[in-house]
This record gives sequence, structure tokens and C-alpha cells, in this order.
Amino acid sequence: MGFMSKTAAFMSMASLRNLVSDSIAIDMGSGATIIYVRGPGVVVDEPSLVAINDISGEVIAVGSEARQMYGREARDITVVAPLLNGVVADFERTREMLAHFVREARSGGSFFSRRALMSVYPGVTHVERRALLTAAEHARIGRVMMMDEGLAAAFGAGVKLDDTYASAVVDIGSGTTNVAVVGAGAIIHSRSERIGSADINTAIINHVRRHRGLAIGQRSAERLKLELASATLPDDLAREITIRGRDVVTGSPGAINLTAGEIYPVAQYVVIKIAEAVSTTLAELSPEVAGDIYERGIILTGGGALFNGMAQYLGDQTKLAVQTAEEPRYAIVRGLALMFDDPLLLRRAVRSEAPPLLDQQNEAYSL
Ligand SMILES: Nc1ncnc2c1ncn2[C@@H]1O[C@H](COP(=O)(O)OP(=O)(O)OP(=O)(O)O)[C@@H](O)[C@H]1O
Ligand SMILES: [Mg+2]
Repeated sequence: MGFMSKTAAFMSMASLRNLVSDSIAIDMGSGATIIYVRGPGVVVDEPSLVAINDISGEVIAVGSEARQMYGREARDITVVAPLLNGVVADFERTREMLAHFVREARSGGSFFSRRALMSVYPGVTHVERRALLTAAEHARIGRVMMMDEGLAAAFGAGVKLDDTYASAVVDIGSGTTNVAVVGAGAIIHSRSERIGSADINTAIINHVRRHRGLAIGQRSAERLKLELASATLPDDLAREITIRGRDVVTGSPGAINLTAGEIYPVAQYVVIKIAEAVSTTLAELSPEVAGDIYERGIILTGGGALFNGMAQYLGDQTKLAVQTAEEPRYAIVRGLALMFDDPLLLRRAVRSEAPPLLDQQNEAYSL
């Protein structure tokens, strides 16, 4: 019998309490993996990267340590991102990465987790979900429950579970943008696009290579995004940053100056697509729900919410009030953690909506 029916019909409050008391919350994103433990809070926040020895296939480093090597890999070492646009691109490495992070989370304290609540991207396929469950098994977590990431983001951003009015939450991650409209503790409507803040980095790298003849790395692209790029037209178009890389023609090291005015249209290309995903989803709502959103506006979560001018741009485009959640990158784990802070919340989330909670004994169930 699946967990859903067991919980809804037969599970006592006591067993529910037991179920959640030693849980950890995991948000394994394509950019970063965040693990939250009751008490200490966020214990892991590291890039979802793995460094591999090309010859032995062995994992040499994970997370921040792997990022140190990124772009400066020694011969025979490759740094890979096993999750691409929110999906498992490399099953084996995802497994090793999750096991590493869970070990790290455990080493920080005395707790021993037998259960984890993990957020999943709404477009996740059956095969991907199986891969995540296998990864969790490998990390020696006894039972894994999965919850829709849009719902978790909403609760983590302050939406009340019993709120019958609808709220709209837009999570802009590294590789995905997830628009979720929630009400009464359940997803009313959601849409995900495989575009995110990391696509701005890619657009910058491509632009600089093609138009300025300089090959630059991820770190330089990230710096340009954070310090020079913006979603709204910059006040000072002439402001510039010097960036170093490799000249694509001569092959020798080189440097160029880039201005805010040159980078702006490059980032716009991605920002427009993100705004379109939001507008399209909002256009699909029923009049009643649309009315709620009109009154309440949109909440932004995820690292992409921190991009300069993003909230303002989305506000201008949708003509709605846009507000960024506190610590937007942690909204999802905070939302997951709320579930195990209060067994009632968990029970109601289980009941209220089919997709939010799944577990490994319930594989036939599909989102
Ligand atoms: N201050 C900031 N300004 C602009 N962008 C930022 C800032 N901080 C983080 N980001 C961007 O946010 C992205 C990471 O966001 P987040 O941690 O929510 O992604 P993720 O959950 O790993 O990805 P996904 O949900 O798509 O799988 C990165 O692309 C990063 O460059
Ligand atoms: Mg995310």
C-alpha cells in the first residue's frame, strides 16, 4: 500500500510525529544543493558539482571543493554538474553527490536522519524520480518523501497552508523557472520552463566569445552577471568591468572591457523568456484565482530573484506587485522544514493534493 493512503486514512498523530521528528529537508538544485536540519537550520549549501578523475572514474571532490577546480581543472580531471536544468543528467554522479552531502550534513551534529523530505521539480519524469530515490537510498536515508518544489517554495516564502486565497510564487533557479499558483495548501496551477539564471551566464560567455573574441570562464561570467548585468535598463550604460580570458584567435591570454550597455541586451534575452513563462502561466488561471493574484501580486524565490532589477522588471511586465522572499534561495528548504515542524501541516499537505508527497514504496504513483 502506498504512503498516501496509509497517511490519509490510517496513520495516527503519534506515528506521524515520529515520522517527522528526525527528518532532514533537501533541495537538490541544478546549481546548488541545500540541506536543512531541524535545530541548526541550513547545514549544507554547496554547488551541485562533482570533480572526477577521467582515468579511474573516481570522484575526487564534491561541492565547493569541486568548484575550486572548475575551469582550472588539472589534466585528467573533469568537473561536472550532474543535474542539468533541474533534471538528473548523470545518475551515478548524482548518487555520489547526494551521499556526500548527506554525510556532511550528518557530521555537523548528533542527529541521525532516517527520513528526508526532498523537493522535486514538477516536470520530473518517472525515471528521474526513480533516480532520485535510488540516490537517496544510496545516501542511507531510510525513507524519502517528495514534495512539489512550488508548494515548498510558497510555504517557505510565508504563504499559509490554510490560506484559501490563491498566491503566486515564481522560483527562478539556476536552470529552471517554476511558476506555481497555490491555494488551500495545494497547487492550483503550475508551469516550469527549463530556463534560469545560469542561462544568463551562458549567454554572456557566448556573446563575449562571438563578438569580442575572448573565451571566458564561468567565474568571470558570474562576476559580469552580478556586478554589471541587470534586468532593467542600467542608469549608467558606460560603467565598465575588465575581464580576462583567452583570445580565441591568437590563443594567448587577453583582457577586454565590457560595459553595462553591452551586457544589458545579452541578459535581456534570458530575462524576457523568464517573464514570458510567468505571463503565460498567469494567463491560464481561472477568473477567481486571477483575481486573487491581481490583489496579492507575485512572490519571488530562488537565486535568480536576486538578479539586479528582476523584481522590478517582472512587476513592469505583469503589472503586478512583485515581492522577493526573505533569503530567497532557502525558501524551498524552509517550506519543506515547516512540514516536519508540525505533523498537522504534513498530514494536510498529504491530504490536500495528490502530487506533493510521494515515497519510495509508491513508485507507481505519478505526478
Ligand atoms: N545575488 C545574486 N544576484 C544574481 N544572481 C544570483 C545571486 N545569487 C545567486 N544568483 C544566481 O542564482 C542561481 C542559483 O539559484 P538557486 O540556488 O535557486 O538555483 P538551484 O536551485 O540550484 O537551481 P534549479 O532550481 O534551477 O535547479 C545562480 O545562477 C546564481 O548565479
Ligand atoms: Mg532550485
